Amino acid sequence: MNLNGNTILITGGSSGIGFEMAKEFLAANNKVIITGRNRERLEKAKQKLGDVTIIQSDVSKPDSIKELYAQVSKDFPDLNVLINNAGVMFTINLQDHNLSASELTKELDINVKGTIWMNDTFLPLLKRNKNAATVTVSSGLAFVPLPISPVYCATKAALHSYTLSLRAQLKNTDVKVFELAPPATETELLADFNEEDMKGIATMKVQAMVADFLKGFSKDKYEICPGQASQLKFMSRFFPSFILKQMSKTVDRMHGS
Ligand SMILES: NC(=O)c1ccc[n+]([C@@H]2O[C@H](COP(=O)([O-])OP(=O)(O)OC[C@H]3O[C@@H](n4cnc5c(N)ncnc54)[C@H](OP(=O)(O)O)[C@@H]3O)[C@@H](O)[C@H]2O)c1
Repeated sequence: MNLNGNTILITGGSSGIGFEMAKEFLAANNKVIITGRNRERLEKAKQKLGDVTIIQSDVSKPDSIKELYAQVSKDFPDLNVLINNAGVMFTINLQDHNLSASELTKELDINVKGTIWMNDTFLPLLKRNKNAATVTVSSGLAFVPLPISPVYCATKAALHSYTLSLRAQLKNTDVKVFELAPPATETELLADFNEEDMKGIATMKVQAMVADFLKGFSKDKYEICPGQASQLKFMSRFFPSFILKQMSKTVDRMHGS
């Protein structure tokens, strides 16, 4: 993929990885649109990013995606890159039965359904344009779960599987299908986790993680696993019981024993 001259839609671009991607793509002469649920956060991002288009939109709501599509296809008919980055992560105690049904599966609505609905809506437009790509942002936790975030990890494993199928099904089109599986990256997503939770986990600066993504994207490396994400993938294949045991250490603390 060329790193310049694209028109790029990034879901969840008001902070973290999406924000950093937007910053880098803008600096490299691309048109960039970012979305998010919270208008104030989008406006703050625009103040920092400058020439970016912001659109308030929620990937977990089909009507909101329809409105986004209507606006983007009208104002940016040359859209050629979609980055499905919007995502949330929670710790959930599966022995605490007080969460509502919607709280329990919110991560599925945003991370999984959001990505599937966004692709379904935008792929016809991407197919009409040259040098098109769709990017799934999964996680190193797609390969082995961190059991204190059980639903989150299930969503990322689902996204990994879905992306393999999407790539196979789009092989007769010009749309390239990328997966970025970030390792623990220093963003607001990790704000819920304390030092104990993060013991033994090497976090990456968001700038370095996005630099690895851009390198892989420019070389058409379809599965990009920066930092510890590639180790998680390796360990899950060759030492699955060992790595799961390591990742499960924080469960006892969650259960207060
Ligand atoms: N940071 C990590 O360690 C890490 C590791 C692996 C994978 N990832 C993945 O990387 C992606 C970005 O995460 P991040 O670390 O950059 O987190 P972040 O700083 O919390 O950013 C998340 C972004 O997504 C937006 N968002 C959340 N729900 C949304 C929805 N329903 N519709 C539209 N936008 C929504 C947020 O804005 P609003 O809240 O205003 O909507 C925000 O802009 C996620 O998919 C995450 O799972 C992160």
